Amino acid sequence: MNYEEAKDLLAKHGQLQLLEYYGGLTEEQKSLLLDDISKINFGVVGHLNESDKTNDGGEYKCPPAKDLKDIAENRRLYEAEGLKLLKAGKVGAVLLAGGQGTRLGYDKPKGTFNIGETRTLTIFGQLMNNIKEVTDLYGGYFHLFIMTSSVNDGQTRSFFGKNGYFGYPPEKIHFYIQDTEPVCGFDGKIFLSEKHRVALAPNGNGGWYSSLVNSGLGEIISAQGIEWLNIFSVDNVLQRICDPAFIGATLLSGKACGAKVVCKTCPEEKVGVLTERDGEPCVLEYFEIPPELAEKTDRDGNLVYRYGVILNYLFNVGVLNEIYRHKLPYHVAKKAVPHIVNGVTVKPEKPNACKFETLVVDMVRYMGSCLAYEVEREIEFAPVKNKTGVDSVDTARRLLKLNGVKL
Ligand code: UTP
Repeated sequence: MNYEEAKDLLAKHGQLQLLEYYGGLTEEQKSLLLDDISKINFGVVGHLNESDKTNDGGEYKCPPAKDLKDIAENRRLYEAEGLKLLKAGKVGAVLLAGGQGTRLGYDKPKGTFNIGETRTLTIFGQLMNNIKEVTDLYGGYFHLFIMTSSVNDGQTRSFFGKNGYFGYPPEKIHFYIQDTEPVCGFDGKIFLSEKHRVALAPNGNGGWYSSLVNSGLGEIISAQGIEWLNIFSVDNVLQRICDPAFIGATLLSGKACGAKVVCKTCPEEKVGVLTERDGEPCVLEYFEIPPELAEKTDRDGNLVYRYGVILNYLFNVGVLNEIYRHKLPYHVAKKAVPHIVNGVTVKPEKPNACKFETLVVDMVRYMGSCLAYEVEREIEFAPVKNKTGVDSVDTARRLLKLNGVKL
């Protein structure tokens, strides 16, 4: 794209401010900026004033679940089915590590954070230990895809390299960078992160599969005959990855995906809730669930809508391939983002910008059916979101110790 073309395009979308410093740039910088402009998805900015509520209305039900009792009774059967699939190489895993981890306030990839006390135990190290429990059990290695962002990709790859891939065969680990969307001010004007760079941010965890396909890694999935993908977040240090019983139960249920869930502790707990809406799976985020649903109890006083999702899902690849091109709704996240104002970088303390994110929870709806698979929170749920307080380094350390992990 040349300067004139860029100018026409930006004028059409009311974004000419992106060329404000063009005259003072070097030739190399000019070409980087024009390239950035040619890739902007201008349509996304149109979502700025849309309501974030994608799940209004409809008839809600609590989905039937494989609860702890059912799983205790049928564990052997589920595990045997799951192990069969793992041994046949039909399951892969995807680590979602493209987030910015702003709440933790740590400027490196979240997975490199040391949760050890008397020794070094990084989040990545702990997740790889959790994976080893399963690979030791079936005597093989599944393909592990690691989604990074353009900000943390280099550091993440070199961290795995320096740590000898934590003993995992490097040829089974595949890194890819998640796609981005532009960042704009509350008035819809797209920001510059440098005088010659358009401000971009990762497009949310709902972009995990389209980014994987766009990166070319979809070919490994089809060539290797991988039929199921277990996606998991970077921050739950207790989670089981490619858990054979979860895989087996999802397969036997005949559903297109499975979600690990924990019973909510109280109506206000900040987790998304797995429900069924008009017969389809639907995750209601904590900020959108109507209070009358969140607080509803059954005859025994238990919450009716009690299954909190923990970002550990198993997706059927065949169904994913049918649905992933459907556009997921964009959610607008208001964040503090440094950008160029009057030629200098400003670093705001309060949110000044809008990021556009798609979410995995919306993908579950498109999958058509989802098994709720309950796990014990004290054993499988220790998210590291904040430095202290709820879902923090402190609470995760306590839970790790409770489960016999030496810190
Ligand atoms: P969070 O919702 O906790 O977001 O991500 P975050 O960006 O990591 O953290 P905060 O909100 O800024 O503190 C849940 C999971 O989704 C991944 C994260 O890495 C984490 O595993 N994620 C999130 C992505 O991979 N890409 C994204 O764009 C967003």
